[in-house]
Amino acid sequence: MCGIVGVVGNDQATDILIQGLEKLEYRGYDSAGIYVTDGKTNHLIKAVGRIAELRAKAGDTVGKAGIGHTRWATHGPASEVNAHPHQSQTGRFTLVHNGVIENYLEIKKVYLTDHDFKGQTDTEIAVHLIGKFVEEDQLDVLSAFKKALSIIEGSYAFALMDTKDPETIYVAKNKSPLLIGLGDGYNMVCSDAMAMIRETNQFMEIHDKELVIVKANSVEVQDYEGYVQKRDSYIAELDLSDIGKGTYPFYMLKEIDEQPTVMRKLINTYADAEGNMNIDSAIVKSVQEADRIYILAAGTSYNAGFAAKSMFEKLTDTPVEIGVASEWGYNMPLLSEKPMFVLLSQSGETADSRQVLVKANAADIPSLTITNVPGSTLSREATYTMLLHAGPEIAVASTKAYTAQIAALAFLAKAVGEANGKKEAIEFDLVHELSIAAQSIESTLSEKEQISEKVAKLLPTSRNAFYIGRGNDYYVAMEASLKLKEISYIQCEGFAAGELKHGTISLIEEGVPVLALISSSEAVAAHTRGNIQEVAARGASVLTIVEEDLATDTDDIIVNTVHPYLASISMVIPTQLIAYFASLQRGLDVDKPRNLAKAVTVE
Ligand code: M6R
Repeated sequence: MCGIVGVVGNDQATDILIQGLEKLEYRGYDSAGIYVTDGKTNHLIKAVGRIAELRAKAGDTVGKAGIGHTRWATHGPASEVNAHPHQSQTGRFTLVHNGVIENYLEIKKVYLTDHDFKGQTDTEIAVHLIGKFVEEDQLDVLSAFKKALSIIEGSYAFALMDTKDPETIYVAKNKSPLLIGLGDGYNMVCSDAMAMIRETNQFMEIHDKELVIVKANSVEVQDYEGYVQKRDSYIAELDLSDIGKGTYPFYMLKEIDEQPTVMRKLINTYADAEGNMNIDSAIVKSVQEADRIYILAAGTSYNAGFAAKSMFEKLTDTPVEIGVASEWGYNMPLLSEKPMFVLLSQSGETADSRQVLVKANAADIPSLTITNVPGSTLSREATYTMLLHAGPEIAVASTKAYTAQIAALAFLAKAVGEANGKKEAIEFDLVHELSIAAQSIESTLSEKEQISEKVAKLLPTSRNAFYIGRGNDYYVAMEASLKLKEISYIQCEGFAAGELKHGTISLIEEGVPVLALISSSEAVAAHTRGNIQEVAARGASVLTIVEEDLATDTDDIIVNTVHPYLASISMVIPTQLIAYFASLQRGLDVDKPRNLAKAVTVE
């Protein structure tokens, strides 16, 4: 949530900041701003809306250093006064911030009663506090920043500039991501390497509760006591082409299309040429030792946990419980004797999931983060990490991460099951079956035009819809409905098909779209078809998505049959396309739906 950039020592500072913000727009896109200076003239430019508005306002403003921010509003609405950067009382200090300062009202009351504030943000209070310590209490800047950090509670990534020292950016971080980018004769600050990959592929991590003094030719990392910390840089394995849209109109469509490749990449990563599992033996051992696996996640990742649950249990004989991270952080149920936590998270930065991990670590519970982002917070803080290797996912609506998470869990489950000597796991030819699933995805992807036409007929102006299914199809229905509502704003519920008649069927009336998913077995299919009859009899407009082996001539979308353990991977593809086309046909911004952001770094 919110993206930060900064650069010092480059004549193209304005352009570097704005290009960086464009790459971070996925983190928040309701307003943005930059502060740029050439040492003599300082420019503070802000705009409500997308970075394009900011770029237009910035025009040909020049500078050698600056900081910038793209916002996902938490404190105060999206407006120019609330957009970052914020400035201290006299305007000497300028600050951008990602995170939430929990005690900002208390700080205002205790330290800043005589200060005037322009907006409602917590960030403005932080920069006033730093300004007060320097200008009223006569502290030097570093001491003032440290003193402010010792008072501030909550999550933050800060980048601070001082008009009296325009060649330095001070940064600090706690629980919010922030990296240093190392250029040739200039240095940068960013929330995500993607923002600065045009400029450099050499980055430096900052740990929580560290402060960094960034100048054009030096970077000094300190802990809050002032001890200098040695830090090596690393090369980010990111390619410019990974983060571009290419010829695609939207990232979401590109990412949907990438799924067969991702499946094959996972095969190459987690199995060797003979098809043997290639998973870190320490992870396998840790799962083997657990008497219950708890998968904790949010949104689509939470749905992926459900999609993998039954397969994982069957292959390992270990019970799996799925928890919604935002609840578990505060409302942890009674755990088994030897629990292991698996954090599923595309971004590896989701604050709700991190909250659970902090509790797990405090209780010495072994943890595994399955994430798409190496070096992300959840990856660094968990006992073990498995990567999704899906390439950057930029559209807010998660697609390839969902299928990659199910596939990664399948590799883990097979490795554990084999280590347990479980026949079911030994006989399950995952490499072969996942290759078939990749082909099934390809086949569905070749039907885009037909799917688009069906969407145009079924959902032209609908305000609400239902996805129904049984077993794994129910879990896919949950994900399908999240995807549809997230980007088309159609209110949609994913429902267990048999449960409708216990209340919800009263919502079915003439023309309500009901999308039914049928895979796995004849018995389940027969029951779901019965439920379809029930809604059709009450006027619902039904669209069926059915596995080939169970399909009839009257079904609408046919999905090539795959192994039942992997059916969620193939069944979800048409639903991703349905959401995409519904959003597109309504003229919406598919990649950046309203009120949302890609990485949710606030609780
Ligand atoms: O990065 P994470 O997987 O932890 O993100 C969790 C959710 O915020 C995310 O899946 C969200 O629900 C997506 N926008 C759904 O498409």
